[in-house]
Amino acid sequence: MKVCETGLPVLQLEDRPGIIDLGPGKADARSYPAASLERAWHEALRSPEIALGYGANQGVGPLLEWLACWLRSSQGDEIDPSRILLTAGASSGLDRLCSTLTAPGDVCFCEAPTYNYALRLLSGRGLTIVPVESDADGPTVESLDDGLRLLPRTQRQAFFYLVPVHANPRGTSVNGERLTQLIDHAAARGVYVVRDDVYALLSYTAEPPAATRLSENPFVVSLGSFSKLIAPGLRLGWIVAAPELVRAMADDGLALSGGGASHSVAFATSFFCDSGDWDVHYGNLLRVYGMRCDAMQRSLERYLSQICKWTTPRGGFFVWLRIPASLDAASLLGSAEEMGVSYAPGAWFYPASRQARGRDYLRLAFSRYDASDLDEGIGRLRQVIDAHRGC
Ligand SMILES: Cc1ncc(COP(=O)(O)O)c(C=O)c1O
Repeated sequence: MKVCETGLPVLQLEDRPGIIDLGPGKADARSYPAASLERAWHEALRSPEIALGYGANQGVGPLLEWLACWLRSSQGDEIDPSRILLTAGASSGLDRLCSTLTAPGDVCFCEAPTYNYALRLLSGRGLTIVPVESDADGPTVESLDDGLRLLPRTQRQAFFYLVPVHANPRGTSVNGERLTQLIDHAAARGVYVVRDDVYALLSYTAEPPAATRLSENPFVVSLGSFSKLIAPGLRLGWIVAAPELVRAMADDGLALSGGGASHSVAFATSFFCDSGDWDVHYGNLLRVYGMRCDAMQRSLERYLSQICKWTTPRGGFFVWLRIPASLDAASLLGSAEEMGVSYAPGAWFYPASRQARGRDYLRLAFSRYDASDLDEGIGRLRQVIDAHRGC
């Protein structure tokens, strides 16, 4: 761990030598476009009074405009910049939605399984998590309806959080028709559908999943992020929402007092996005992650096809692996790390009341390793499983 002189850490986590760590869902640090960002910062700092001032509440205009164009060209959505708010990342966007739409004690619906730290964030905001069961096409309408029936009439607003495209943790995408039904049912009850779309723009096949397209329904909110597209340390993301909701957040005390989120970073990033460097960077990202996604499938096939089942993602970072039912992924983690491989146990992705459901699952991220390391990691995982099955 890199530390400062007093011993305090600098980064949230660093790699442990000897361990192929397929646990964290992070971008590959080797992909961070440091030289392009240096040029962009240089450009931005030519106007210090703009780069270093309090930013516009909704976020810097050029980046809002660039995002509107890019979302149109990459996923076909016509989005007016008045529907976009810049945030300090998707997590911060979710937190802002909590403070705008909810009060402690409110109900929040979440697909199960889902992104573990979103569960932490939502319960930390005092929300009562109501899980929505999923099948192969995504969260089921019946399960959402069951939850909606229980929603207290006194609750002012609520939301349903889900990762509809290349999901964390399963790597799968919600069927397009299913998503439309879920949105219709939620909106009819006045419930917002909060899509966490941090992987939605990382599709590795010619045709992105239908669920990538954003609905114009005013109850749909999308959280985007540059964490997986450029670098997480930028703390930069965006929310797409109805203009009234964007205005409510751009006019709240936080924005009035502090201005737009991550303003200097957003201003510098707008130079990077507007330069030819962005297209090259994004093209490389899709190519490299796409190759790793395929490589992970080949290694799983090679080592685990006799004993495990897993998902086949078309984008994002993750595979959701089911190990033999006699095993508990969380208990196995210690010996896996001793054998030089790590992963995220499935139980982490369920709310407390459902954690047993994730017992024989684990999440593997292919984003940070080349094919040979992925192969080595999956080979080690096979050895761990064999050692515990008594083979
Ligand atoms: C589904 C999902 N949402 C949000 C985040 C965090 O995004 P950000 O860095 O923009 O806060 C992650 C990161 O792992 C994620 O997987």
